[in-house]
Amino acid sequence: MKKVFKYGLMLLGGIIGLIGVAVAAMYWSDFPRYDTSIPTLTIDYTPTRVERGRKLASMLCVECHQNPETKQITGRLMFDLPPEFGTVYTKNITQHPTKGIGAWSDGELVSMLRTGIHPKTGRAVPPYMIKLPMMADEDVFSIIAWLRSSDPMVQPLDVDNTPSSPSLLTKFLMRVVIKPFAYPTKPIVLPDSNNKVALGKYLVSNLGCNDCHAADVTKVNALEIEKTPGFMGGGSNWTDVNRKVLYAANITFDVETGIGSWSEADFRRAMHDGIRPDGKPLLYPMERKVQLTDHEISSIYAYLKTAPPLKNSRKPAEEYTLAADASAGLKVYTKYGCQRCHGESGLGIGDLRQADKKYPNDSTLTDVIKHSSKYFPETVMIQWDGIIKEEEYAPLCAHVRELGRKASTRASR
Ligand code: HEC
Ligand code: HEC
Ligand code: HEC
Repeated sequence: MKKVFKYGLMLLGGIIGLIGVAVAAMYWSDFPRYDTSIPTLTIDYTPTRVERGRKLASMLCVECHQNPETKQITGRLMFDLPPEFGTVYTKNITQHPTKGIGAWSDGELVSMLRTGIHPKTGRAVPPYMIKLPMMADEDVFSIIAWLRSSDPMVQPLDVDNTPSSPSLLTKFLMRVVIKPFAYPTKPIVLPDSNNKVALGKYLVSNLGCNDCHAADVTKVNALEIEKTPGFMGGGSNWTDVNRKVLYAANITFDVETGIGSWSEADFRRAMHDGIRPDGKPLLYPMERKVQLTDHEISSIYAYLKTAPPLKNSRKPAEEYTLAADASAGLKVYTKYGCQRCHGESGLGIGDLRQADKKYPNDSTLTDVIKHSSKYFPETVMIQWDGIIKEEEYAPLCAHVRELGRKASTRASR
């Protein structure tokens, strides 16, 4: 009896040891690699495509690849990635021949964006890099035309890539859950833009709404979006630039917990201006989309109406707590969620640390805060005019200046 017990223990010990080795192997190993065949194709970089590509990329690529300091798509730390995925940097995708993608062929770019397999290494591309398996050929080609264009944001810049350290969870997901997409066997055409529901579905599939507004990001069905569990019902967790948690909202037409009581005008204001019907700003990473036309927004609204309404109450975002002696300016900065994009130091997806020097008097600085679109036409920053109270601008400007001064004393030390 005793012997059986002893062997049993040894066996158990062995199994635990093996599991340990398997976990360690997964941890130390890289993402899986796959065979990939690169299509031979040459894209015509017409001005129409460059313009269309710029619009698409400004909604889909720039937010992750633009570095707030270089202002170009040279890559940045993904401080807005939930920490369980690890420490991740996006890459330099300017036209630089070795550090960027200047030497990639059009076929290599299309292949990677479609399938999620790196064309040079065969390495699978992690879940936090976008894939476009359903986007029309014309739109994918347009994004590439923009990457090849003379736009200042894509010009070659000699900036090294910083290696990422994805977590064990990410590696596990990459081995077990996430599989690359097959390269499309047929051309993918644009939807009929007169058919609002079809256009809306196309935009919801391709602008990330489906990924973010699902119940669980790891269970998103990108090919048949309506089969995504909790489709448009929200609930998945996201983080702002300080890694404070917030949850995707329910955007089905459930009247109590979704947007069932929103008029089309309410929805347009939320999408275009980033302001909800209750006057509150949408919090980052939900970014307003000034690039969308009224017809496109109206089409998304029409399509969302066709999704089955789900009951799922809004979960409040994680709050910031301030010290009792916080300045009036810091209070305003926090109240409106400036720190969710600009960080507590002034540097986040946008950098406001130069604003003190650039706009030496408060009336200009106030104007920049109120109407930033006048200065940065496609900015995701909310137009604060009418939202922030007039008496709050003076302390807010003082705080912005304070952040600028703190940054310059740090830099000169
Ligand atoms: C949510 C953030 C995110 C978005 C949005 C995003 N990317 Fe990326 N991208 C990444 C990350 C992270 C990597 C690095 C992946 C890795 O470590 O393998 C990457 C890598 C790449 C690479 C590979 C570069 C190289 O040298 O290996 C290319 C090309 C690229 N992205 C293009 C794009 C384009 C084009 C878009 C818009 C259609 C886009 N990305 C949108 C995060 C993003
Ligand atoms: C990066 C993830 C992400 C993407 C992409 C995204 N959303 Fe959101 N969305 C969120 C989060 C998080 C919230 C909650 C923000 C808050 O708490 O203020 C939200 C809120 C909203 C709201 C406000 C709902 C309410 O009740 O307050 C609407 C409407 C909305 N999103 C529509 C869309 C549409 C349409 C798309 C695609 C064009 C989209 N979102 C893309 C993450 C995302
Ligand atoms: C949704 C994200 C977001 C929020 C919220 C936000 N900003 Fe910004 N802001 C940006 C981005 C991005 C830029 C850089 C301009 C650009 O290229 O879009 C910017 C630019 C600025 C600038 C100009 C910087 C310069 O160098 O010209 C100032 C000043 C500024 N923001 C202040 C604020 C204040 C104050 C708040 C809060 C009331 C705020 N922002 C909220 C994203 C945001």
